[in-house]
Amino acid sequence: MKSYINQKLPAVFYALRYLKRRYWRVSHRCFSEWRGGKIEEKFAKIYSKNLWQDPESVSGPGSNVIHTKVVRQELPKLISDIGAKSLLDIPCGDFNWMKELDLDLDMYAGVDIVEELVDANNKNYGNERRKFVKSDITKDPLPTADLVLCRDCWVHFSFADIFRSIKNIKKSNSQYLLTTTDPNLDENMDIYTGFWRTINLQIAPFNFPQPIKIINEKCPKEWCYNKSLGLWRIDDITIV
Ligand SMILES: C[S@@+](CC[C@H](N)C(=O)[O-])C[C@H]1O[C@@H](n2cnc3c(N)ncnc32)[C@H](O)[C@@H]1O
Repeated sequence: MKSYINQKLPAVFYALRYLKRRYWRVSHRCFSEWRGGKIEEKFAKIYSKNLWQDPESVSGPGSNVIHTKVVRQELPKLISDIGAKSLLDIPCGDFNWMKELDLDLDMYAGVDIVEELVDANNKNYGNERRKFVKSDITKDPLPTADLVLCRDCWVHFSFADIFRSIKNIKKSNSQYLLTTTDPNLDENMDIYTGFWRTINLQIAPFNFPQPIKIINEKCPKEWCYNKSLGLWRIDDITIV
């Protein structure tokens, strides 16, 4: 019996994986409205129509104050541990949860592709040491910072746009990257930019090394996955 199960197990595994991929392709096609078009237009539409349908934050439920409890607790400690004095927050979204933090920094730069969002952030939260800039993280020059935070962004990007962003971040000569990853996910799926799925940066096609630190955000059950922030030295990330 045991040897029969051992013999059949790989076939069952491959069958399940095949079915998962078929299901993904069909369901993803239903969201083909995200195919083509400019990134800027897609996210401007998400913003203006509040397509993530959250009453508290136009950046979606993941940017609620309550849902960022762990991140808000851990980020100041991490900044102090690595001795960061400058933070590049790409993308900053509406700064909804970040506004609750009083970080010990000389410079904070928030970048987003939606102009209205950036203007509102500058008006409401901008000061001498805190600036918001409209840029596209896949291609526009980025300032150098000790720490780059890229939270809940690449989950909305196609593989190609993620790779463009990584190359662009590397060009900024910044030191550390803290970004969203799901270490338990066993396979990454490609999407049209604008849609959403989870990603694991340590498996193909990204193959990031072991992170220096992982912060599990302990997000609510409805999202039921291990949404985490992984910390890497940017120089340790190699892309081909
Ligand atoms: C889900 S929100 C996350 C915001 C923020 N990181 C947070 O944790 O609240 C994603 C944000 O990415 C921005 N965005 C999408 N593509 C971008 C790009 N290519 N360059 C800069 N910002 C982008 C969107 O406008 C949106 O505000």
